[in-house]
Amino acid sequence: MAVDVLLGLQWGDEGKGKIVDVLSKGYDLIARFQGGPNAGHTLEFEGKKFVLNTIPSGIFFDNTLNLIGNGVVIDPITLKKELDKLKDAGHDLLAKGNLVIGKKAHLILPTHQLLDAASEKKMGDGKIGSTLKGIGPTYMDKTGRNGLRIGDITLPNFKEKYQKLVDKHTSMLQSLYGEVADFSEREAAFFEAIELIKKFELVDSEQLVNNYLKEGKKVLAEGAQGTMLDIDFGSYPFVTSSNTTTAGACTGLGIAPNKIGDVIGIFKAYCTRVGGGPFPTELNDQTGEELRKIGHEFGATTGRPRRTGWIDLPALKYAIMLNGVTQLVMTKADVLSGFDKIYACTHYNYQGETIDYMPYDICSVEAEPVLKEIDGWNEDLTGITELNEIPAKLQSYIDYLEAELEVPVKYLSVGPDRKQTLVLH
Ligand code: GDP
Ligand code: IMO
Ligand code: MG
Repeated sequence: MAVDVLLGLQWGDEGKGKIVDVLSKGYDLIARFQGGPNAGHTLEFEGKKFVLNTIPSGIFFDNTLNLIGNGVVIDPITLKKELDKLKDAGHDLLAKGNLVIGKKAHLILPTHQLLDAASEKKMGDGKIGSTLKGIGPTYMDKTGRNGLRIGDITLPNFKEKYQKLVDKHTSMLQSLYGEVADFSEREAAFFEAIELIKKFELVDSEQLVNNYLKEGKKVLAEGAQGTMLDIDFGSYPFVTSSNTTTAGACTGLGIAPNKIGDVIGIFKAYCTRVGGGPFPTELNDQTGEELRKIGHEFGATTGRPRRTGWIDLPALKYAIMLNGVTQLVMTKADVLSGFDKIYACTHYNYQGETIDYMPYDICSVEAEPVLKEIDGWNEDLTGITELNEIPAKLQSYIDYLEAELEVPVKYLSVGPDRKQTLVLH
């Protein structure tokens, strides 16, 4: 058996949570492989809405186990909040036993968040626009070989290890940013949350995943963020601090490259980005405002307005190449209903040339989009359930995208609810 991977092809918020939930029934294990509570994955069904930050999106099916993999960074306080909210809504994951946590996943400390905020403040207008969840500083401690891991919470000297790292952080805050750290309240909440996490099964995620494969069970790896936020291949430095691409599923779960099966790449029928950095197809006009309004484009984690623009084919082709995408999912097609004309960026005008790839210096040299005009459709899509109800003009948009991207669009999402999903192939 192989691990299928579902990941975002744009700058995040493509609808990963919704589609993982839709697909979960067919899998025995859903495993988050990177990122942390910078993610906000939204699921809607039976009139209820859930936003998950750290917890995989497969928790609503009783026969599916969920794993927070070693590549994830965990903020115990956020994780406890997620668990408490779910419990209040009748989903007690501790009682159900459908969530396990990788011992090698790294811990976000309250001081990581202070470092994130201080660094952003110092950068002023050039800031990344981070979610301020402490993601960058935590991955820095991981690669700097200073980090604390979930497995450490059960060690008798955990508090000493914690204090050692916190002391380092407080002196950094003072010397680099002139800040005196005050985090006593968050520290108390951190240790309270640690006690809850200890009650869950802490596992060697690489063993668990590979044993599942040996037993012929089906595994889906759930990505966070999107390819254009990948630490190596995204619009650096306006990226997150992990590999959001398929390779990240290998390192984030302990699976060998030859164990990767289908790679399901998800994208919106248009494009959004939250935070700073280049966005060639961005619309800073009334149309952009309309996309934001109709698409409810406000961050699931931070509530920030998302920047909006047209679909960007060079960026999508780049993402498909990097990830080895075998199936596509297009979401939010319903948001485009009623736009007389829609546009797709086919190339960039870049330094006097026309190019169709993502250049190295996308952050410093303007890539002006070359746009193709496409007829829009007027029909409301949110109620359609049959393929023959797909408007002809939407079908030709899909056909055009399939021809350009050379990968089939297997699923079409026409609304936020689990049920608003069509299988096209
Ligand atoms: P994720 O981070 O990739 O899981 O995506 P988010 O949850 O941050 O953002 C996607 C938003 O779009 C959420 O509010 C979803 O409920 C919503 N959504 C997902 N698919 C569709 C769709 O096909 N149509 C509409 N209108 N909304 C959708
Ligand atoms: P999901 O999984 C959209 C963005 C931030 C910022 C940059 C770095 O919901 O798609 P970080 O806090 O990671 O240091 O921020 O990355 N970002 C996201 N944008 N969706 C996300 O996750 C994101 N996670 C981080 O806005 O620009
Ligand atoms: Mg999101």
